[in-house]
Amino acid sequence: MTINRSIQFAKPWITNEEREAVLEVLKGDILTHGPQNAAFEKEFGEFTGGDNTHCAAMSSCMAALHISYWQMGIGAGDEVIVAAQTHVATGHAAEVVGAKCLFADCDPLTGNIDPDKLESLITPKTKAIGLVHFLGIPCEMDAIMDIANTHDLKVIEDCALAVGSTFKGKHVGLFGDTGCFSFYPVKHLTTGDGGMFITRHKELAEKVIKARAFGVDRNYGDRQIPGMYDVPTLGINYRMSDINASIGRVQLKRIDEILKRRKENFKYLKKTLSEIPDLAILDSQHKEAENSHYCLSVVLDGVLSKRRNDVINSLKEKGIGTSVYYPQPVPRMTYYKNKYGYDSSAYPNAERISDQSIALPVGPHLNTDDMGYMAGIFAETLKEMRI
Ligand SMILES: Cc1ncc(COP(=O)(O)O)c(C=O)c1O
Repeated sequence: MTINRSIQFAKPWITNEEREAVLEVLKGDILTHGPQNAAFEKEFGEFTGGDNTHCAAMSSCMAALHISYWQMGIGAGDEVIVAAQTHVATGHAAEVVGAKCLFADCDPLTGNIDPDKLESLITPKTKAIGLVHFLGIPCEMDAIMDIANTHDLKVIEDCALAVGSTFKGKHVGLFGDTGCFSFYPVKHLTTGDGGMFITRHKELAEKVIKARAFGVDRNYGDRQIPGMYDVPTLGINYRMSDINASIGRVQLKRIDEILKRRKENFKYLKKTLSEIPDLAILDSQHKEAENSHYCLSVVLDGVLSKRRNDVINSLKEKGIGTSVYYPQPVPRMTYYKNKYGYDSSAYPNAERISDQSIALPVGPHLNTDDMGYMAGIFAETLKEMRI
C-alpha cells in the first residue's frame, strides 16, 4: 500500500465563526459570567434534555466531577464505587473530597463498568457510583440505576467523551444525579478548555452554580450596589469565561454534523476491520444505546496481544496517529496502587483494554476515504506483526 497522507488522531474543528464569536466578546466589557455563558448553558440544556436539564458551565470536566461529589455532601468516611477503566479524573474527583475509591472492572465488549461487579463492592459506607460512558459508548443505565436505587446511592456520570450519546433515547448524564462533560480541544465540542455540569435536580444545580463562583449570593448583574455581596456558603472558582462559552455556542450549532461524520467514519472503519482475526472492536452492544463515536478502539488478542506498542510505532512511522484509552486501569496508576494496593486479578478486562488496545481516529477532520486508507495500512501492519 502506498503511503501518501498523514492522519492525525484528533484535531479541533475551528472555523471563522468561532474566531468571530471570540472577537465579538472581546469587543465588549463582559468577559466572564455574562450572557454567552448563560446562553451556552441554555442551549446545551436544550440539546441534552430540554426543560428537565439544569446546566452549569464549568472550567473543565474534572471541575464538574469534583463539584458533583462536593455539593452532594460526599466526603471523608464515604466510599465510592468507580469504574476501573476510565480517565483518572473519574477517580480523582471522589478522592479529592476525601472519599475512598473501590474500583469495579469493566465489560470486555464495551469498556463500561460491569453492573454485575457492583453489588459485591457495596458496604454500609458506600455513597455513590462514579461511572464513565467509555469512549462515548453509553452504559446500560437500567441495570446500574436499579442497583443505585435499591441501595440509595448517588450516580455521577462522567460524560467527557459522550456528547450525543443516548440510551433508550435519553441523553447520558440525565440518568444519575449529575453528568459531567469535557470541552477540551479534541473532544466532540471544544471551548478551548472547559466543561459542563448537568443535572435533573434543580436545587442541586442552584447549589453548584453558587459553589462554582466562591459561594457568593448574587452574580455581578444582580448586585444593586456594585461590589456588594454576601457569602452564605463555601465556594471555589470553577467558572467558564464568556470567551470560552462563545466558542462552545458556535460548536454546538454544528453538533449534528460532527456526530454524523463521526458515525459514518466509525461504521465504515468497523466494517472494514471486522474480518481481521484476533481483533475485537469496542462498541455499544445494546440496540438502544447510541454511541457518540469518540474513536474506534480495537483490542489486539491472540498472537497480536503482545505487539500493541510495535503496531502503534509502525503506524506512527506510516503517518497514522493513534492513542490509547486509557494507559492503565485507574487502580494500577501509582497514586492508587500506593494508596490501596493493587490486585491484578480483580481487573482482567480493564487490563486487557489498557495493555492491548489501540484507539484509531474517526473525528470530523477525516472522511470515509481516509478510513479506507487507514484500514488498509492497519491491516498490512497487523500482517507484518504476525510473522
Ligand atoms: C473520561 C474522561 N473524564 C474526564 C476527563 C477530564 O476532562 P477535562 O480535561 O475537561 O477535565 C477526560 C479527559 O480526557 C476523560 O477522558
